[in-house]
Amino acid sequence: MKALVVGSGGREHTLAWSLLRSPKITEVVCVPGNGGTATLPHCRNLAMNPGDFEGIARFALVNNLELVVVGPEQPLADGITDYLQGQGLKVFGPCQAGAQIEASKAWAKALMVEAGIPTAKAEVFTDEAAALAYLNQEGAPLVIKADGLAAGKGVTVAHTLGEATQAITDIFSGKFGAAGRQVVIEAFMTGQEASVLAVTDGKTIRPLVPAQDHKAIGEGDTGPNTGGMGAYAPTPVVTPEILERVQRLVLEPAIATLRRRGIDYRGILYAGLMITPAGEPQVVEFNCRFGDPETQAVLPLLETPLEEVMLACIEGRLETLDLQWQTGAAACVVVAAEGYPDSYPKGMDITGFEEAAATGALVFHGGTRRQGDRILADGGRVLGVTGLGDSFEGAIANAYAAIDKIRFEGMYYRRDIGYRVMGS
Ligand SMILES: Nc1ncnc2c1ncn2[C@@H]1O[C@H](COP(=O)(O)OP(=O)(O)O)[C@@H](O)[C@H]1O
Ligand SMILES: [Mg+2]
Repeated sequence: MKALVVGSGGREHTLAWSLLRSPKITEVVCVPGNGGTATLPHCRNLAMNPGDFEGIARFALVNNLELVVVGPEQPLADGITDYLQGQGLKVFGPCQAGAQIEASKAWAKALMVEAGIPTAKAEVFTDEAAALAYLNQEGAPLVIKADGLAAGKGVTVAHTLGEATQAITDIFSGKFGAAGRQVVIEAFMTGQEASVLAVTDGKTIRPLVPAQDHKAIGEGDTGPNTGGMGAYAPTPVVTPEILERVQRLVLEPAIATLRRRGIDYRGILYAGLMITPAGEPQVVEFNCRFGDPETQAVLPLLETPLEEVMLACIEGRLETLDLQWQTGAAACVVVAAEGYPDSYPKGMDITGFEEAAATGALVFHGGTRRQGDRILADGGRVLGVTGLGDSFEGAIANAYAAIDKIRFEGMYYRRDIGYRVMGS
């Protein structure tokens, strides 16, 4: 079977690599892919825009690509699944109606309230004056969220009323365009964050191994937030008991409520969680797709062939499939370009891939491109290096040993990925 992966980041390289581990997958085409998917055996890139649904459909049909896997949220929110399914293709990723769970935080919050899912108290505003009045009534700390997709930049955790007011003013002055037509003001939650990605066929929902991301650019979780600087799995923050509660209190009610609303949600449902000091999971947000870099830590541990899992979701028979996991741990350390998450240079030569791979680590490309036989940096988060081991210490050491072999000008990475679990 041949597959098509939509997207160009570290997540998509990981998806292509993971699909190709199955003997049943003979070829993967990435649209548009990156330097990693250009050099992965049995994988190639197609220079086409992920928003070109017609072009993707035509290419997949002509070339007999039987499975389409959608990486990023934007095409899902724009209805790629509905369109491609209408052309007779099998697509892993929710329909446009389902993708609202990520594309509108107000919509997601209303769904959570309807489903009785534990989450922070919140109010939605379309009017700036009303939003400001609510701020003053509630007092800081508060969390201010632009409603729509904002590439991870639409949320302000405001510790003072001044910061909260500024965030509201920014959103209503159009900083996030249409994504800021509504604003969600949410109570501040404390605890540790964790990501539980789950696969679903719209009826059955099964969690993948839980992961923990590191969003801040700086060591010790300091500095501005990024797309994610590293992740590890399975995170012990989500104990088997907590995971069971997530299943019963979050995942199952979410799917049941979507169904009640007539939404047949198939694909990934990603619950971003705050685990309170008392061990209670509360939902920070839902995403409608794989996380980046969580995917780079989670999928290498999956033993069940990925295409089997995806086809079971698409075909509505997930109930009959058990997910098998490798024992041990995985840790992904993101290597970024100097200056990220602000502006950063591109075009630097990256070397040391073979030596890095010889350590047993997996080097997934994010922002890279191939030029002849060179690999050049081409984005903020350039690589995601996943180490594997029997313990977290082993996995983390493996990732850093591999990064030691890699060179490009200005490369930056956090040296403390997994600090919360060192020694476990
Ligand atoms: N209610 C909340 N309490 C405390 N922190 C929050 C809350 N909501 C969001 N955050 C913080 O802000 C980050 C981004 O918020 P999130 O809702 O995940 O939006 P997005 O990922 O779309 O930017 C979270 O990972 C978390 O660190
Ligand atoms: Mg988030």
